[in-house]
Amino acid sequence: MQLLDGRKISSQIKEELAIEVKDLISAGERPPHLAAVLVGDDPASSFYVKSKVKSCKEIGFESTLFQRPADISERDLLELIDQLNKNPEIDGYIVQLPLPKHINEEKINLAIDHRKDVDGFHPMNFGRMAQGMTAFLPATPYGILMLLEKYGIETSGKHCVVIGRSNIVGSPMSILMSRKSKVGNCTVTLTHSRTKDIAEEVRRADIVVAAIGKPSFVTEDMVKEGAIVIDVGINRVEDSSRKRGYRIVGDVDFEKVAAKCSFITPVPGGVGLMTVTALLKNTMLARKRSIYP
Ligand code: GUN
Repeated sequence: MQLLDGRKISSQIKEELAIEVKDLISAGERPPHLAAVLVGDDPASSFYVKSKVKSCKEIGFESTLFQRPADISERDLLELIDQLNKNPEIDGYIVQLPLPKHINEEKINLAIDHRKDVDGFHPMNFGRMAQGMTAFLPATPYGILMLLEKYGIETSGKHCVVIGRSNIVGSPMSILMSRKSKVGNCTVTLTHSRTKDIAEEVRRADIVVAAIGKPSFVTEDMVKEGAIVIDVGINRVEDSSRKRGYRIVGDVDFEKVAAKCSFITPVPGGVGLMTVTALLKNTMLARKRSIYP
């Protein structure tokens, strides 16, 4: 078994991005600028957004965090989005999800200028992605593609089983893995809560992408010998032996599954870091107007 080391690959990519920033500055241009909108004080969302902002600083990007209270009105949030759309100093921005219940996420997503949608959630980007056009790819699937590519993993003709059909991970991942592309050309099965027998589907997989949000959902008996296992889960489980009272585990029973597969992503140190790195890549693409000239 070989680890797909998200820490190593993301630091390599971040070093490359830092060089691109220096090149921009030497050419008299400004560095990329990412903004993030955080509504409310959910600790997990706050942690993710702050790690995105911190990663920007590490590689010389500008970043601005817009924190708003959980009771912000939909209208005020739309007003902020309008300002971000119009601000020529901001190349790309994200609105951290989930949003409070009184705010319509769909409406917010549609209000984001697709040219600044570095999360790749706007239907313009999602549609372009589905048609194999250039687009901002959603960060988690994009991060996984980069990981597979950097490890030289051949995906063509393989059977990829994705667990979970979220708009953020499962659904775009299933599309990307079936696309005619360097990493892609898979036969894809997308499984979800109404799938009759998820375990049986996963047993047939050469590549498993677990994005279901249930700790240790994928067990050893579900994984074919030599499979490639990508664990997207970031789940908190109680652990009284830890000072903070919990530990983070993925959607895969790592120890037992690792013994059976050819490649596996650890949690932490796998997909999570690649997600942040993919967002930085998208921000550089936005700065250089590579997707929408
Ligand atoms: N919530 C969970 N994952 C993500 C993500 O990739 N982007 C945003 N904006 N919110 C999220």
